[in-house]
Amino acid sequence: MHDLLADRVAGFGTSIFSEITNLAIEYKAVNLGQGFPDFAGPDFVKQAAAEAIHADLNQYAPSPGLPRLRKAIAAQWERLYERAVDWQTEITVTSGATEALANAALALCNPGDKVIMFEPAYDSYLPDVTLAGATPLPVRLHPPDWHFDPVVLRAAFEQRPRAIWLNTPHNPTGKVFRRDELMLLAELCQQYDVVALSDEVYDQLLFNDAVHVPLASLPGMWERTLTINSIGKTFSVTGWKIGYAVGPKELNHAVRQSHQWVTFATATPLQDAAATALEQAAVNSYYDTFRQEYDERRVLLERMLTEVGLSTLAMQGSYFLNADISALGFTDDRAFCRFLTTEIGVAAIPTSAFYIDQNDVPPLARFCFAKRLETLAAGGERLQRLKS
Ligand SMILES: Cc1ncc(COP(=O)(O)O)c(C=O)c1O
Repeated sequence: MHDLLADRVAGFGTSIFSEITNLAIEYKAVNLGQGFPDFAGPDFVKQAAAEAIHADLNQYAPSPGLPRLRKAIAAQWERLYERAVDWQTEITVTSGATEALANAALALCNPGDKVIMFEPAYDSYLPDVTLAGATPLPVRLHPPDWHFDPVVLRAAFEQRPRAIWLNTPHNPTGKVFRRDELMLLAELCQQYDVVALSDEVYDQLLFNDAVHVPLASLPGMWERTLTINSIGKTFSVTGWKIGYAVGPKELNHAVRQSHQWVTFATATPLQDAAATALEQAAVNSYYDTFRQEYDERRVLLERMLTEVGLSTLAMQGSYFLNADISALGFTDDRAFCRFLTTEIGVAAIPTSAFYIDQNDVPPLARFCFAKRLETLAAGGERLQRLKS
């Protein structure tokens, strides 16, 4: 039989993520690699989903999303960013941020188009752009503070890209882009007439007074920015896959053109529960508790890693910490993560997995602290083996 795989997916292969997950299961490692919580989401959110199912909200939702959820998202934007968003035309609910990201690539990029993305980059960006037939224009973020070179960014814009993909707070580095960095980006987008996609799924996960600036809130940027978010990260229900895109009517129209044929609509009862989550969190102290609990987990993981010679890079947001593996004599992060999983019993992700260009990649491992304190402590105990 001829090769079954179409050209557009033929290069995808098996990722290091599944390799490490499989090794973690085989070696019963404490998994600090996978980027999702090992604890339950809040009761008021779970209860809302159960109630929605019992209230028979179980048939197809309108393709752009349940009005109640879209109104709750609009209210959130009004409350946090003082922007009046039209819930009917400027918000689209998707099956996770993942679907919104893929729809955006498919609906905004033509084959041959170029898309700027900062690297390291969240792992779905490259496949999304590849599926659309476009090519990435990677712009490096440099450790330890993950700055970019403005000259390199400008040179990328000079190549006349169709779009730029931004992620702040950033996975895998934990960088929260500063206002001045975003201002430069905004200026270049306007100068070169480039559309921006801004993945802000960790917008509520900030540490040490870090401030999240939505790219769309900068002068002249609302008109050309599609902001992507997800209920999964903020309410610890990643399996629900409720994401959404917010932006001007034209960009939502583009996303909807793809969404209507990819999934048509997203799970109805979970959308209704997501609306409750946003409505309730705006009036109870959920976000404060959420941040405090994550801060405790972050501090614990950082201390455990540093103690065994894995010094961590500064971060301001998301639930990831990157550790420098060079002090332990490793230069190859993939070899290190295999060793850590199989010999030490702790799984982490090699940060090189997030690079498009594998040349001169810094020797780092990404650890996730969306884990119970007991899970982190169990990992910490095993990490002690690195000392012997
Ligand atoms: C930066 C970023 N964007 C998007 C996603 C996916 O979000 P969802 O689960 O809502 O599809 C993730 C999940 O890890 C992420 O880290």
